[in-house]
Formats: sequence, C-alpha cells, structure tokens
Amino acid sequence: MVETSTPPCRFNSNRLEIKRWIPTLFSSHKTLFTILWIAAFASVFVWQRDIVHGFPIFRRPAPVSDLPRLRPATFNLTDFGGVGDGVTLNTEAFQRAILAISKLGKKGGGQLNVPAGRWLTAPFNLTSHMTLFLAEDAVILGIDDQKYWPLMPPLPSYGKGRERPGPRYGSLIHGQHLKDVVITGHNGTINGQGQTWWKKYRQKLLNNTRGPLVQIMWSSDIVISNITLRDSPFWTLHPYDCKNVTVRNVTILAPIIEAPNTDGIDPDSCEDMVIEDCYISVGDDGIAIKSGWDQYGIAYGRPSKNILIRNLVVRSMVSAGVSIGSEMSGGVSNVTIENLYVWSSRRAVRIKTSPGRGGYVRQITYRNITFDNVRVGIVIKTDYNEHPDDDFDPKAVPVLEDISYTSIHGEGVRVPVRMQGSEEIPIRNVTFRDMSVGITYKKKHIFQCAYVEGRVIGTVFPAPCENLDLYDEQERLVKRSVSQNISDIDYDF
Ligand SMILES: *[C@@H]1O[C@H](CO)[C@@H](O)[C@H](O)[C@H]1NC(C)=O
Ligand SMILES: *[C@@H]1O[C@H](CO)[C@@H](O)[C@H](O)[C@H]1NC(C)=O
Ligand SMILES: *[C@@H]1O[C@H](CO)[C@@H](O)[C@H](O)[C@H]1NC(C)=O
Ligand SMILES: *[C@@H]1O[C@H](CO)[C@@H](O)[C@H](O)[C@H]1NC(C)=O
Ligand SMILES: *[C@@H]1O[C@H](CO)[C@@H](O)[C@H](O)[C@H]1NC(C)=O
Ligand SMILES: *[C@@H]1O[C@H](CO)[C@@H](O)[C@H](O)[C@H]1NC(C)=O
Ligand SMILES: *[C@@H]1O[C@H](CO)[C@@H](O)[C@H](O)[C@H]1NC(C)=O
Ligand SMILES: *[C@@H]1O[C@H](CO)[C@@H](O)[C@H](O)[C@H]1NC(C)=O
Ligand SMILES: *[C@@H]1O[C@H](CO)[C@@H](O)[C@H](O)[C@H]1NC(C)=O
Ligand SMILES: *[C@@H]1O[C@H](CO)[C@@H](O)[C@H](O)[C@H]1NC(C)=O
Ligand SMILES: *[C@@H]1O[C@H](CO)[C@@H](O)[C@H](O)[C@H]1NC(C)=O
Repeated sequence: MVETSTPPCRFNSNRLEIKRWIPTLFSSHKTLFTILWIAAFASVFVWQRDIVHGFPIFRRPAPVSDLPRLRPATFNLTDFGGVGDGVTLNTEAFQRAILAISKLGKKGGGQLNVPAGRWLTAPFNLTSHMTLFLAEDAVILGIDDQKYWPLMPPLPSYGKGRERPGPRYGSLIHGQHLKDVVITGHNGTINGQGQTWWKKYRQKLLNNTRGPLVQIMWSSDIVISNITLRDSPFWTLHPYDCKNVTVRNVTILAPIIEAPNTDGIDPDSCEDMVIEDCYISVGDDGIAIKSGWDQYGIAYGRPSKNILIRNLVVRSMVSAGVSIGSEMSGGVSNVTIENLYVWSSRRAVRIKTSPGRGGYVRQITYRNITFDNVRVGIVIKTDYNEHPDDDFDPKAVPVLEDISYTSIHGEGVRVPVRMQGSEEIPIRNVTFRDMSVGITYKKKHIFQCAYVEGRVIGTVFPAPCENLDLYDEQERLVKRSVSQNISDIDYDF
C-alpha cells in the first residue's frame, strides 16, 4: 500500500535524499559550473515557452494589448469605465475616451481599442486623428430605444428627413468636419439592432427619419476596413460630402427582406472614394451612389465623383447590387465598377432617376460584372418619381450619358437589360462590349430599350435591342440604328 503514504512524508524523504546529494556534487567546481550552465539554459528555455505557450510558472503580468498599435497613443475602452456585458450603457465611456483622443491631434492622434465583449451604447461622435479598433468578438451594440438617439437637422441637399419631414435621427457612430479617421479591427462588429426600428417604421410609429449606423459628414481621409457592420436601422454606412474615403474588406449584413432601407454603403456627394473587397448582403441597395434630392440637391450642388468600386460580392433581394440614384441632383460622374459578383438578387446594377432631379450621370464604366440568379441584370430607370415635396421643378431633367458595360456575364437572369429612357430623359452614348448572359426564359424581348442611343461592339448575347448601332470587333460600323427611340419595355417578366 505504498500509494497511501501522505504527500508531506514523500516530500520530506525526497528532501533528505537531495540533501545527501548536494555536498557530493558541489565538491567539484567542474560539476558546479555544469549545473549553473544547465540552470541558465533551462531558465531561458522555460522563458521562451512562456512566450509561446504562456507557461504558467513564469507568467508575466497579462499583456496590455495584443492588438496592433496604429497611433502613438492607444487606449482601452475599459480604462474609461466601459463594461462589455451587453447591458451597461457605455455612451459616456466612448465619449470620455474620444475626448481624450481629441486632445492628441497634434501628436498623431489616438487609438481606442474596443476589446471582446458586447458594448451597448447610445449614439456618439468621433473626433479627428483617431482610430477606432474593434478586437475580434468586440461588438458595439446600438441601443434601440429611440429616446437616446439625438435629432439632427435635415441634410441640406435633401431638404427633409429622407422618409419623414423635419429633423432626422443622427447615426449611431457619427462625425462632422473630421480629418484622418480610421475604423478598423480584427473583424469586430458594429451592430445597429435595427429590428425595433424596422418594426416601428412598418407600423408607422416613427415621426422622424431613422438614423444610419455610421455617418461621416464634411470630412476627409477616412478609412473603414476589416470590420463587420450589421442590422442598421436605416442606411448602413453614409459618407456625406466627404473626400478621400476608403472602404476595404468590410462585411455588411442585414436581413435580405423586411429590413427596410438598410442600404450597404451610400456615397453621397463624395469624391475620391474607393470601395473594395467587401461582402454585402442587405435589405435594400448594396451600394447606392447619391448626390442630393431634387431642388435641394440642385441648390447644394455637390456631385459624387471619382469613385472606384471593385471586388465585391453583393446580394440584394429587394433592390439592386450597385445603384446610382435615385437622388443624384448634384450629379454623378467618373464611377468605375469592376469585378462585381451579384447573386440571388432582384437587380444587379441600376441607374435610377426622374424628372425634377436635374444633375447628370456620366462617365460610368462597368467592367467584369457577373450575375448569378438575378431577375434583371442592367437597369436604367428614368421615372423614379419619389420627391421630397411638391416644389420640385419637373423641367429639371437629368442628363444620362457615356455609360459603358464591358465583360458582362452570368447565369439565371430573366431580363439581362432594361434601359428605359424617355423623350425628356434620353440615354445617350451607351456602349456594350463582350456580354454573354445565360437567361432563364427564352423569350424574345429580353434586351429591352427605350430612348437609348449607343452601340454594341462585337457580339453580345442575348441579341441587342434595335436602338443600338452595331460595330464589329475592330470597331468598324456594321449597321446604324434608325430606331433609337422605339420602346420595347416589358415589366411583365
Ligand atoms: C482592455 O482591458 C481589459 C480589462 O483590463 C483587458 O481584459 C483587455 O485585454 C484589454 N484589451 C486591450 C485590447 O488592451
Ligand atoms: C455630435 O455632433 C453633432 C454635430 O456637431 C451634434 O449635433 C450632436 O449633438 C453630437 N452628438 C452627440 C451625441 O454628442
Ligand atoms: C480582412 O479582414 C479580416 C478581419 O476582418 C482579416 O483577417 C483579413 O486578413 C483581411 N483581409 C485582407 C486582405 O486585408
Ligand atoms: C467577419 O465576420 C462576419 C460576421 O460574423 C463573417 O461573415 C465574415 O466571414 C468574417 N470575415 C472574416 C474575414 O473572417
Ligand atoms: C408622433 O407624433 C404624434 C403626433 O404629434 C404623437 O402623438 C406621437 O407621440 C409621436 N410619436 C413619437 C414616437 O414621438
Ligand atoms: C487619403 O487618406 C489616406 C488615409 O488617411 C491618406 O493616407 C492619404 O494620404 C490621403 N490621400 C490624399 C490624396 O490626401
Ligand atoms: C486589414 O487586416 C489585414 C490583416 O490583418 C492587414 O494587413 C491590413 O493592413 C488591414 N487593412 C487595413 C486597411 O487596415
Ligand atoms: C476618375 O476616377 C479615378 C478614380 O477612380 C481617378 O483616378 C481619375 O483621375 C478620375 N478621372 C478624372 C478625369 O478625374
Ligand atoms: C472578374 O470578377 C471576378 C469576381 O466576380 C473575379 O474572380 C475575376 O478574377 C475577375 N476577372 C478579371 C479578369 O479581373
Ligand atoms: C461615349 O462614351 C465613351 C465612354 O463610355 C467615351 O469614351 C466617348 O468619348 C463617348 N463618346 C462621345 C461622342 O461622347
Ligand atoms: C430621339 O429622341 C431624342 C429626344 O428624346 C431626339 O433628340 C432624337 O432626335 C430622337 N432620335 C430619333 C432618331 O428620332
């Protein structure tokens, strides 16, 4: 029954044995030296293990942060009293942290780390020269009680809240007149908990327009990357009258039905903007480039221009993958959309406008667009009659021109093209080149046009509408259209 002997006994006997050994060993200097050498080696070894595996015996105090340092000063939301339990309201913690960062602008600004946890908050404002860093499993949760959401004046280029007159709710994360702002992380999430808002909107219980999830106004040098945005009450990411905005590697999610107006990204009167490497699946347009609404947008007069959109996967069951408009009264020009994959959607790429808008949509280049199971692939619609009020000028008609579609492919499309110009708003100088789209119905009029002028270069499938001039691969005229204005639009399928 050796195993029953108590630990203290065994310990004592071991100690005794060691005591007997020590004098013998230490009698030789050589042995002593060897032992010291081994001890030194062993301690280095253990220390290394500590770094790699967190070996418990030698554990140093917990590392301050394993997150990258992107600014000279970094802060942890918990240092400002933040509690990530999903219940405690962290608005003041965010505000205190951002106030501290706002004093560091001249020193390169500051980084606010949001650790893993669920950080409930009311809307708060960002400051210049700051990085908001969302660690893995960090979730900023927007409080869904509307009384915490401040009301703001309508956007000047809209004249009213987008869906209700008068003031509108601000955004969960907001900024005005900022420079050099980064929102990034290890795929942490900003969650707007839009469910309550969508429900109230449907029940007509809201007197003011819902707020976006992230809205940055009159600002420049903005980067939003490596995070997830989800369940916005209204539009998800809304840069308004900004310059130099990059959105990269961002996931944007909302339910694909019954999440009204949850557009993914709405560049609005913005210039020099890049949106790339994003996955967007939402309850309205994936992207909608805008520039103000009717007489208010015309008066404000700020176009959206120089916008590059590439490498996106988008799903929009209710609206379109990438839209321009319908609010485009300040004009939209020089937009490139390439390497876009739109799946299980109602429409893939759409330009929408109406009389009263004024402005223009021009120099729009679509390249390498893939449709996978969409009802209508390419859409231009010129009677999107939604107006802020009755004071719009019906004679203010938009100009639509210089639009090209190159390398358009896909499967499972009902109507590959529906371009509906009108006598007042003809569509000019449209180019198609290299298009082959698999269709779900072998019906004849599935390349639909009205008041469209332009050309097809080389062969395209399905056969183009008669409104377009035909050119061969070498861009030599084969047949000029004599019927640009005939209408072959069929909304029945
Ligand atoms: C923030 O502080 C909390 C609590 O002190 C700590 O657990 C966490 O690791 C820190 N996070 C970062 C990113 O520094
Ligand atoms: C954020 O800034 C805007 C504009 O300055 C202001 O109207 C709003 O009240 C601020 N919001 C908060 C929560 O401080
Ligand atoms: C995209 O972001 C995720 C975290 O959200 C990161 O792991 C990944 O490396 C990023 N990809 C690129 C190409 O930056
Ligand atoms: C980021 O998180 C979202 C939502 O959980 C997930 O769909 C996406 O795949 C993640 N992205 C990366 C790069 O891990
Ligand atoms: C909306 O306005 C009506 C009429 O003024 C008022 O009775 C109602 O309480 C308001 N609702 C909200 C959510 O503020
Ligand atoms: C655009 O913003 C980025 C990020 O702040 C910055 O590095 C870059 O210099 C800016 N570009 C211009 C042309 O100002
Ligand atoms: C996104 O994450 C990747 C991988 O961690 C990193 O290399 C990249 O710099 C990040 N991108 C931005 C724009 O922060
Ligand atoms: C068009 O936009 C691109 C960015 O997508 C920019 O590089 C280019 O300079 C712009 N062209 C003009 C004429 O402004
Ligand atoms: C076209 O876009 C797809 C994504 O939809 C991408 O995988 C492919 O590499 C692109 N092709 C070219 C030639 O850029
Ligand atoms: C037609 O549009 C193309 C771009 O799609 C442009 O290069 C060309 O100059 C335009 N033609 C005319 C006559 O404006
Ligand atoms: C088509 O209509 C436009 C105006 O809507 C007009 O300028 C043009 O001359 C018409 N073209 C033909 C061929 O009738």
